[in-house]
Amino acid sequence: MAVDEKILDLRHRTQAVRLGGGEKAIEKQKAIGKMTARERIETLLDADSFQEYDTFVEHACTDFGMQGKALPGDGVVIGIGTIGGKPVAVFAQDFTVAGGSLGLMHARKITKIMDYALNMRMPLIGINDSGGARIQEGVNALAGYGEIFFRNTMASGVIPQISVILGPCAGGAVYSPALTDFVFVVDNISKMFITGPEVIKTVLGEEISMEELGGARVHCEQTGNAHFFAQSEAECFDQIRKLVATIPASNTQPAERLATVEPKTDTYRIGEIVPADPTQPYDVRDIIRAVSDGSDFVEVMELFAANIVVGFGRIDGETVGFVANQPLVMAGVLDCDSSDKAARFIRFCDAFNIPIVTIEDLPGYLPGVDQEHAGVIRHGAKLLYAYSEATVPKITVILRKAYGGGYIAMNSRHLQADFVFAWPRAEIAVMGPEGAANVIFRKEILAAEDPEQMRQLKIQEYKDKFANPYVAAAKGYVDAVIEPEQTRRCLIQALGVAKRKEALHPKKKHGIPPF
Ligand code: HXC
Repeated sequence: MAVDEKILDLRHRTQAVRLGGGEKAIEKQKAIGKMTARERIETLLDADSFQEYDTFVEHACTDFGMQGKALPGDGVVIGIGTIGGKPVAVFAQDFTVAGGSLGLMHARKITKIMDYALNMRMPLIGINDSGGARIQEGVNALAGYGEIFFRNTMASGVIPQISVILGPCAGGAVYSPALTDFVFVVDNISKMFITGPEVIKTVLGEEISMEELGGARVHCEQTGNAHFFAQSEAECFDQIRKLVATIPASNTQPAERLATVEPKTDTYRIGEIVPADPTQPYDVRDIIRAVSDGSDFVEVMELFAANIVVGFGRIDGETVGFVANQPLVMAGVLDCDSSDKAARFIRFCDAFNIPIVTIEDLPGYLPGVDQEHAGVIRHGAKLLYAYSEATVPKITVILRKAYGGGYIAMNSRHLQADFVFAWPRAEIAVMGPEGAANVIFRKEILAAEDPEQMRQLKIQEYKDKFANPYVAAAKGYVDAVIEPEQTRRCLIQALGVAKRKEALHPKKKHGIPPF
């Protein structure tokens, strides 16, 4: 029957496209732990939820032997499916087809799904596995990237944009992810660089492997280009599902509210986590878990600038962003990288209406020639800007040290925190008592019969005066000094009322943050 023939024809055509670059090319990918583009989509999304579009798109290039050359689907799969029932728009580049390289039609498929994502207000997930601009297509390929970058920028702050790097990604294939909100990488599979080892060898004579140049660890630990690290593609897709379940689908929709689950207080006893000795470290993530629903915490950029911790949890069923100094790493100081990391996270939370809970315990900004020359003024200013600009509910809890610029930068009352709480052990001062005594009592210490004894005396004097939360509380800079066990209750109450506020900025086109 004619209809059956047509259906068979459709199936035949679809099957041919689904084979991508052919069985041999697929085997080559599998041998290095990679899934095919469609397997990736199927693993990521809810079962049977994916509807593919533009399956039969073909390239239009005739140069450099491309005429008549079949590139199934032009090397990219696009469509819409769901994660936990929430619609998401997806594209996945197929490395078996011309190395996933981006030609004009390939780009048009991607921009089509980006337009759907933006117009229909759903997260965009791009699975990148591409050698970058398709060399044979010349300026048409570059035009394609330009169209993608423009859309990444327009969608920024409207819908969450997630990039997954699952292969050797070069050139434009890494600049589009760099414009998105979260970049996921997998050990030994993901590589990101603008120019690969071959070009570097030709131009500079330097030899370096792809892994050393732009492997997953390099981007998670050193460059800060990637936000989530996984050991396998399957683990990576689990991480993405968890993130999508936590964040809103757009800037006009709230994140899903879940039933409140009490923290695991047997494991995370908040009053016992912070050592009395202010020089002793502890893991601030234990504090976050002690106040979060179910003690769940989705950490973002765990391996980069670990002196600050950022990520998502829930309080009383609602998603919040945590920003916390980490006394376990460099005493939790602020530096260039931690300021960058936190500022960007704060801006994501603010754009998507996610309240920010700041947990503070830091000795200030990191002093040093390296930091000064690396631009700590500029980078540190990003944090001041991001907190000041944010209009979402902003709550701070000062656990222990809050010194100098660190005190101001970590969402102080002066940057318009909605509520500031301090534990009785908090020390709010311009600097630590030792440093302070050495500066302001230098003459007395030098002139003393026993300078060391005098130094200790003056340190104690300074401690008695300033190393507590009550001077700040007396001025109203701290709203309440609370017992540690009251922290979660105070956060629930503060978040509940702060979300009612209406915060307005002066009229402007946009601000000019210290990028
Ligand atoms: C056309 C490409 C391609 C590209 C790879 N291929 N990259 N075809 N244009 N950009 C093809 C290869 O010819 C090969 O085809 C197949 O894909 C697999 O590639 P291999 O080299 O065999 O794979 P591998 O050894 O894993 O190396 C992957 C790679 C390498 C590191 C990505 O292919 C590479 O360096 N490619 C070029 C990267 C690059 O310089 N891109 C342009 C960036 S400029 P066959 O037929 O042999 O299977 C850019 C502009 C935008 O993107 C800039 C924005 C600011």
